[in-house]
Amino acid sequence: MGKTLRLDRILGNMGYGTRKELKKIVRAGLVKVDGEVVNKSSIHVNPYVSIIEINGERVNYREYIYLMMNKPPNVISATYDNVHRTVLDLLDEKYLVFNPFPMGRLDIDTEGLLIITNDGKMAHEVLSPKNHIPKTYCAHIEGKVTDEDVEEFKKGIVLDDGYKTLSSELNILESGDISKVELTIYEGKFHQVKRMFKALDKEVLYLKRIAMGSLKLDESLKPGEYRELTKLEIMTIKEKEES
Ligand code: URA
Repeated sequence: MGKTLRLDRILGNMGYGTRKELKKIVRAGLVKVDGEVVNKSSIHVNPYVSIIEINGERVNYREYIYLMMNKPPNVISATYDNVHRTVLDLLDEKYLVFNPFPMGRLDIDTEGLLIITNDGKMAHEVLSPKNHIPKTYCAHIEGKVTDEDVEEFKKGIVLDDGYKTLSSELNILESGDISKVELTIYEGKFHQVKRMFKALDKEVLYLKRIAMGSLKLDESLKPGEYRELTKLEIMTIKEKEES
């Protein structure tokens, strides 16, 4: 909270223009700091303490954004793709100025909880393999899922590349021609859930992430919808990062 920043950097970070453009805007007398018109875009201001207005509009400065998306199928969790739409294509311009990126990946056909942020330090620490953040998925599996499968998941499953997964918790919700399960894993190998079932000769038909650590997907979000995380939810993820 004690940090001062150049005024043009503050406004630039919020998407109000380039340094050159902001110099002109300030010179034109369109920017006020604490009620006074300023004439230099290079002055230092504490954006969390001072009231900054541009063209009469109050600037609510922040450095980081944290969004929760219910990722829909057929979009890629990446910042750029030359074939498919990415999750960033679903965001409003007002968030894109922060240069956000998806925290981790879900496959193109996987749905559900995806955090989108520009807080690189947090993302790096949360995604660090040593953190073992639990990730819970709801999955539909072709054929019956049995108590023996539950035991296998608990013991750890040897994947196609020889890697043995950590113990995971499989809960059978419905077993039948198409079974419904919930699975919690503590790591995030490439296509992990699909490969775990494949190792037991089973196919995942549908996959949706419903929780990461204690952060649960807000079920009121329809596929493709997103919202900002609450302060409490941000703290929940950061706590995990520190533990
Ligand atoms: N496991 C998978 O197989 N796919 C995902 O998208 C996430 C976990």
